[in-house]
Amino acid sequence: MSSETPPKGPARSMLYDPTEHRIRSFVTRAGRLSTAQERALAELGPQYAIEYTKAPLDYAQAFGRTAPVILEIGFGMGQTTAHIAKLMPEKDFIGVEVHTPGVGSLLKLIGEEGLSNLRVIQHDAVEVLNNMIPDGSLAGLHIYFPDPWHKARHNKRRLIQAPFVKLLVQKMAPGGYLHLATDWEDYAVQMLEVLSAEEGLQNTAEGYAPQPAYRPLTKFENRGLKLGHGVWDLVFTKK
Ligand SMILES: C[S@@+](CC[C@H](N)C(=O)[O-])C[C@H]1O[C@@H](n2cnc3c(N)ncnc32)[C@H](O)[C@@H]1O
Repeated sequence: MSSETPPKGPARSMLYDPTEHRIRSFVTRAGRLSTAQERALAELGPQYAIEYTKAPLDYAQAFGRTAPVILEIGFGMGQTTAHIAKLMPEKDFIGVEVHTPGVGSLLKLIGEEGLSNLRVIQHDAVEVLNNMIPDGSLAGLHIYFPDPWHKARHNKRRLIQAPFVKLLVQKMAPGGYLHLATDWEDYAVQMLEVLSAEEGLQNTAEGYAPQPAYRPLTKFENRGLKLGHGVWDLVFTKK
């Protein structure tokens, strides 16, 4: 999934949020909802989707237990999210995504795999972070293949920029980690620069990190690797 094509017509306005005076990192796409995704939204949404509100989220209430919480931003169709949540039943996961078919797809996976440690929020992650995630509360943050906005004039829409990273650090628990991955070299360079310059963070590697074993290779990534494209992982911890 990619937002490489500049939006035309009404979608263009979706990039700017007039209420927040902020440029958005995503374009709202209609996208086709499959019958199975629609069913998952209707049947599993009430149990596993958390509604966006401007109030701090009570994790213990949301999950019915106390465990380290990992937040994933922009999970796409959610295959990686479901894979990792299944691998780590001792941790709780919150996936944030704006795209409805993706939310339906992940709810379907939650149902199929019986993932009681995963919840979904369909909303702009910047607002979710600002309004729902308590400071110092996240054991980990995953952001995999964020939209590269590869044209120079669109670079300002990239999620990974200094003020956003500062917000992430504010939400992380001491010792918590931030794991990013991208297949866009120029964005990888920007990520490394921004994260290295953030004084609240410490790199776990010399530059880019080896791919952690828990992050599965996606179909799209595999295809890219076969075509000779690179993939860069970055893992930083909060000081
Ligand atoms: C290129 S896709 C990658 C999806 C997935 N992580 C993967 O690796 O396949 C980026 C996703 O981030 C989502 N996204 C972008 N900005 C977002 C935001 N501010 N809040 C929530 N989701 C966002 C988009 O809707 C899109 O699904």
